[in-house]
Amino acid sequence: ARVAVIGGGQNSEHEVSLASAAGVRNALVAAGYEVVALTVDRSGTWRDGELRPIGLAGAVQVIGSCEVVVPMLHGAHGEDGTLAALCDLAQVPYVGSGVGAGAVAMDKWVTKLVAQAIGIPVAPGWLLTRKTSSSYVFTGPVVVKPVSAGSSHGVSLIMDEEQLPASLDAALALGDRVLVEEPISGREIDVAVLGRPDGSRLIAPPLEILIQKDIFDHSTKYDGSAELLVPADLGAQERKALEEAALAMYDALGCSGVARVDFFLTAQGPVLNEVNTAPGFTEQSQAPKMFAADGLPYVELVDLLVCDALT
Ligand code: DAL
Ligand code: MG
Repeated sequence: ARVAVIGGGQNSEHEVSLASAAGVRNALVAAGYEVVALTVDRSGTWRDGELRPIGLAGAVQVIGSCEVVVPMLHGAHGEDGTLAALCDLAQVPYVGSGVGAGAVAMDKWVTKLVAQAIGIPVAPGWLLTRKTSSSYVFTGPVVVKPVSAGSSHGVSLIMDEEQLPASLDAALALGDRVLVEEPISGREIDVAVLGRPDGSRLIAPPLEILIQKDIFDHSTKYDGSAELLVPADLGAQERKALEEAALAMYDALGCSGVARVDFFLTAQGPVLNEVNTAPGFTEQSQAPKMFAADGLPYVELVDLLVCDALT
């Protein structure tokens, strides 16, 4: 089959997305697919496999010439449902979540409301906007993050009130809405869920992120200093609680394909951090590593996702 792989994107996760797309393209070639690359550059211009500008209309034409699309755009204008909408309108099947799941999962505030509604613990948090941010009263350490961004861009852990204005500015630079949360102390555990067309789900062994610092920020995510341990060392009860919470979020948001559900595992059990409907997807990224640990190597995982999208 002819497959379009879309990477890049007009947002802070551009580089991460290029890496995911390159990994997936290689896997698809290895699995015998005809692969067409599409890249969205930093300014939002669509480019073909030779990086020639082709515009949105040109991209839709390429997408329409393919049997299936693999969207590897993380973050805004990609993971947030917009790319799914483009594929829906072009009537071409695609790997991963649809418009609704992508849009909700990209919004950390709405995700929190959904989790609370179905009884999954989350960090207590407050929504601030450009207008209301000055009214926030600092009472103790908080994590400041953009409501809609990924790869920890614009995220900071604030211990002192003096740090607050700069942190709010950094988060507001990436969007109009900011989330201020109480820090959760717990182990960072990710759970990957893969929904199949027959309604069944595969849950890979959970992964633990081991970091030296106090926060898994952008540099720690991508400088190689974090250790990804899979399978995480978990008791049977802990694993069950994590898996049930991950599945409940996957279903509540109506995800498809692979979603990575990130938790803090505290003494009281899992606390949801966020849901990624287009998680990092190089061979070394968390979700592919988890499925590989479960006996589903990278090339087979990518092949399975494409086959499922075609089903
Ligand atoms: N947002 C990045 C790509 C991740 O969650 O893996
Ligand atoms: Mg994320």
